[in-house]
Amino acid sequence: MDDWTVLGYLVAAVLFILGLKRLSRPRTAVRGNQFSATGMLIAVVVTLADNAILSFEWIIAGLVVGAAAGALLAVRVQMTAMPELVALFNGFGGGASVLVAAASYLEAVDLGDDPARLSGAAALAALIGAVTFTGSLIAFTKLREALRWSGFPGMRVVTVGATVAVAAFAVLMVVDSSSLWLWLLVALGALLGVLTVLPIGGADMPVVIALLNSLSGLAAVAAGFVLDNSLLIIAGSLVGASGLILTQIMCVAMNRSLPAVLFSPAPSSGGGPSADDVYAGKVRSTSPDDVAMLLESAERVAIVPGYGLAVAQAQHAVRDLTRRLEERGSEVVFGIHPVAGRMPGHMNVLLAEAEISYERLVEMDDINPTFEQTDVTIVIGANDVVNPVARTDPNSPIAGMPILDVDRSGVVVIIKRSLSPGFAGIPNPLFAGDNSLMLFGDGRQAVVDITKALQEI
Ligand code: TAP
Repeated sequence: MDDWTVLGYLVAAVLFILGLKRLSRPRTAVRGNQFSATGMLIAVVVTLADNAILSFEWIIAGLVVGAAAGALLAVRVQMTAMPELVALFNGFGGGASVLVAAASYLEAVDLGDDPARLSGAAALAALIGAVTFTGSLIAFTKLREALRWSGFPGMRVVTVGATVAVAAFAVLMVVDSSSLWLWLLVALGALLGVLTVLPIGGADMPVVIALLNSLSGLAAVAAGFVLDNSLLIIAGSLVGASGLILTQIMCVAMNRSLPAVLFSPAPSSGGGPSADDVYAGKVRSTSPDDVAMLLESAERVAIVPGYGLAVAQAQHAVRDLTRRLEERGSEVVFGIHPVAGRMPGHMNVLLAEAEISYERLVEMDDINPTFEQTDVTIVIGANDVVNPVARTDPNSPIAGMPILDVDRSGVVVIIKRSLSPGFAGIPNPLFAGDNSLMLFGDGRQAVVDITKALQEI
């Protein structure tokens, strides 16, 4: 590498680090993104200018295909599908590391070079990349709620067998340079990714998404060692480390340890009483006018958003309702569960889009002790994060997950379209609670109707 390349990489690495630092606060996050994107641009340009790379035809072809796919996705993907897209991107990162490692290793074997120099790193990149690729594809289908299958009898034995075999192939790849071991390693790594993520669901899903994100970074680090590229090692380390920190945060939020998530996952769905048993004859529905009457005399109102708020795109309507309530003298707070929605920070991003200030958003541990002093709590499109079964049924998919204790407030109004379950696929006894009222309908329309009714009182 010449001095200019080293200098360019250094500037890019500094921009990555500064960008990541700025992502830690909502106010500086946009600037942080710009820093990181500039760093990536510098990294790409410097790498292209470095002669020791592929021919430019291939690079241009890759750029055209990649840019077209990216532009198409950016235009077509709905905001609600963002978490799935992020899962897919993690997978593509892992897949790219497999290809980089395989290409370098096979080239060395073909040229008759001694691939031992890079075989350790290539084995790691191929293995972690393959696990990340297929694991992320399974996570993608689970997030789309297109897959509820959590495995087959004896799966754990197959997983243990596959783990032992990949370790053996990785060692063989290092001691005996042959492409056979590489392909066997990739194939079994891919199988391992499927077997590991398949049984995970319910409250464990956020943890596994964060972990796959981290693994995609670690695969890039290993690919960086294969290519002897310092910038790829730095960028991969940043992704790997931040993903690990997020994994830890998610584990704490879910009250689970990482080994428990991976080796004894909660049941993906099913079990427990049926919806009929939980709801029959016990659910009371209400109307926007009645909710407006309740709110009219409420001194303290809590709003709890969930995934349905994102589906309904109700954030602007919620902001208008908040303003109306405050004009009438009510105190309004937002209760934010760490895994509400489908990606970390999902609710914060949505509410920030509607200019609802971060100061109003109260984290779960802080808001829970205050529900008893709250007159009305409005739950909009949230389900699992307010399901009291998490406290009571040790066999449920959300067992042990801390929830927002909305059932302890004076009245709970739950806005959703039906009695359908949330992500975990289980009924929610909150909807049949003594102090619960269901307002059936689309989240945005229901909030607009309540605001209108409040204006007319
Ligand atoms: P969910 O439990 O998934 O419930 C969302 C509810 O929104 C559904 O019951 C649905 O009921 C309702 N809904 C959908 N569209 C709506 C609309 N247009 N208007 C009004 N309501 C609508 O959501 P949650 O409470 O936010 O919990 C999140 C779940 O996702 C947890 O189980 C969590 O473990 C999992 N998860 C989270 C993450 C992260 S990192 N946040 C990642 C993966 C998985 P109707 O169909 O009856 O309307």
